[in-house]
Amino acid sequence: MRLMMLSLLALTACSKSAEPEQQAPTAETPAAAPKAFAELKGDPAAGEKTYVQCRVCHAVEPNKGGVGPTLHQVVGRAAGSLPGYAYSSAMKQSGLTWHGETLYRFLEVPMAVVPGTKMAYAGMKDPQKRADVIAYLETLK
Ligand code: HEC
Repeated sequence: MRLMMLSLLALTACSKSAEPEQQAPTAETPAAAPKAFAELKGDPAAGEKTYVQCRVCHAVEPNKGGVGPTLHQVVGRAAGSLPGYAYSSAMKQSGLTWHGETLYRFLEVPMAVVPGTKMAYAGMKDPQKRADVIAYLETLK
């Protein structure tokens, strides 16, 4: 019995020490590797601050126009579908629906994801900033 306990202990100790080794490759992934949206946790409060970059063109209130369409309830919206806003045909025909993943890609390089869009914004390179802004957009409902 005593022997069994000991070997169990040894096993536990062994698997514990093996864990960090298995995780090591993930931890060492270069920071430059593109991050998947699912790996990030957005902070809506931080996103609201970053949103100053968007606010010049986008209201957050319902039915409020601007250079761009209001982003009130943008999450879940079919791209280019807000009544009364004059979208580019590129946006109307993009076939996208705005949710975390599509916003994450679009906001990185809008003109690459929707070629011909009239959104004159170069993009937000920082993955965490994009996740934060998206978390903020999710509160606009
Ligand atoms: C210089 C003005 C400008 C800035 C800055 C800007 N946008 Fe836009 N945005 C637009 C315009 C104009 C459109 C309409 C594009 C079209 O019809 O092709 C648009 C469209 C969009 C759409 C699609 C909306 C829909 O109804 O389909 C989203 C989402 C969006 N912008 C998010 C953002 C976010 C988030 C930011 C800040 C990181 C931002 N935009 C910054 C002008 C801007």
